[in-house]
Amino acid sequence: MIGGTLNLSIATVAEQGFKTPYGVSPYMNVGIDDIAFQPGRLKLDLKTVFAPAVDQPPKKFTSGLGLSEIALPDTDEDIVTLGADAALELMNKNDLTPSDIGRIDVATESSFDRSKPASTYIAGCLEQRFDESFRNVDKGERKFACIAGTQAVNDALNWVAAGVRTGKALVIATDEAFYERGDPGEATQGAGAVAMLIDENPRLMSISRIHGYGSRDETDFLKPNQQYPSVDGKRSVQVYLARMREAITHFEEQSGPLHPAEYALAPFHTPFPKMVRKAAALGFRHSIRGTDIEATIADRIGDRPQQADFDADDAYVDAIQAWTEDLRETDEYTSWYNDVVAPTLSLSAHVGNWYTASVHLARVSGLWNALNEGRDLAGENVFVASYGSGSQAEVHQEVVQEQWKERVREFDVVEKLEARTNITDFETYRDLHRAHDETTETDMSPISEATGFVHDGTGSMGERTYRFIG
Ligand code: HMG
Repeated sequence: MIGGTLNLSIATVAEQGFKTPYGVSPYMNVGIDDIAFQPGRLKLDLKTVFAPAVDQPPKKFTSGLGLSEIALPDTDEDIVTLGADAALELMNKNDLTPSDIGRIDVATESSFDRSKPASTYIAGCLEQRFDESFRNVDKGERKFACIAGTQAVNDALNWVAAGVRTGKALVIATDEAFYERGDPGEATQGAGAVAMLIDENPRLMSISRIHGYGSRDETDFLKPNQQYPSVDGKRSVQVYLARMREAITHFEEQSGPLHPAEYALAPFHTPFPKMVRKAAALGFRHSIRGTDIEATIADRIGDRPQQADFDADDAYVDAIQAWTEDLRETDEYTSWYNDVVAPTLSLSAHVGNWYTASVHLARVSGLWNALNEGRDLAGENVFVASYGSGSQAEVHQEVVQEQWKERVREFDVVEKLEARTNITDFETYRDLHRAHDETTETDMSPISEATGFVHDGTGSMGERTYRFIG
């Protein structure tokens, strides 16, 4: 059944011969125990405020990119306040205090300090709310564009699995995705954080030990000592797809061929939802090769074009693209896409790109939609596909745990999106963008009512200072 389940238990996986290179069991019961997320307090509507001001049809953003609005940080917010708000909520709802935590990893590509990691700032914020400190906690910061969030999860996972842990691991992916004003990427901006608790016997997602990688030195998107990225946008789309293909092939070398019916959800890194629509079609095409699905649809859209049958590469590319377009129209594809991919994209359409946190928000989105649609995902597989420019993709498999519904019910997705304050005119957006420019001094006041942690100044050593508002 398309979009159905293949309930791979640990025993089944072992029988199927899944092995890591060193023979370690691919499934330890380690993974994501719980999640909390925090969007920037502001919201920019792309259709009514952004599109008219940049003289573009709203459909370019809604249909062309799949975005309707984006989350932005107010003037007193940054990666530390967003990360600390998400982490505090995660700790509070799990009755945790600093002595329960052994490790804090922050993933970001919006760091404002070349030495002091954001995790120390976030720990400092959290300590304002507890009587204990994180004195014996290992803290760090991970950087590799958007994929660093997944790398930080994997580091924490390995630390727990290695048996050397001294507590639970807190992983916080936090970013402000600003582009230079007028850059084609401007509409895809976003700001927010996802905090994840990594532990043994997780209540949400157990994570497989098999990771497929595609990695190559590229210059599609980079920030050489600058706040805003240098971006070759069109090429970055092609690089994303190429790395994903390599990562999936690498994964299959270890796990055997993928089949679309094995996965209930497939969260991808989502710079904008349309990017994932492109990737999903290629992923589906790849994974149905030689399967019952391909045989069934051949009656309607013909056999898949084979490169060997074409004299010129261009002719083959045209033929396979046309076949892929036809494939996207089939019931098999649309039903799979609607079940497995679309649920992971609905949050992104309202918040934009959160860089390191993006794929983790896509997981939140998929689980939350599944809960609201009354699906029972316990025991089902989820295929997670991360990407970072520069460039690297990583794919792996997770299994939804029995207690997932209780955890997801507390994500408070609607409340968080609705709590944001609308930026009602383009001039205010322009001033806000300038206020976040690291090279410009402005004294713009916050637009929205402050909640949680706020950035309230700069100390004598140039450090940022923070305060809890409530
Ligand atoms: P652009 O030049 O503004 O847009 O840049 P476009 O002209 O290519 O149009 C975009 C789509 O809208 C096209 O669809 C148009 O046809 C369509 P497509 O051909 O791609 O299917 N369109 C319309 N549709 C309906 N009605 C209309 C209309 N007009 C146009 N009226 C670009 C787009 C993605 C290049 C730009 O947004 C950009 O540079 N973004 C930043 C880079 C990016 O997000 N890259 C994605 C892959 S790399 C990545 O994900 C890593 C990243 O997250 C960073 C990291 O890892 O750290 C970015």
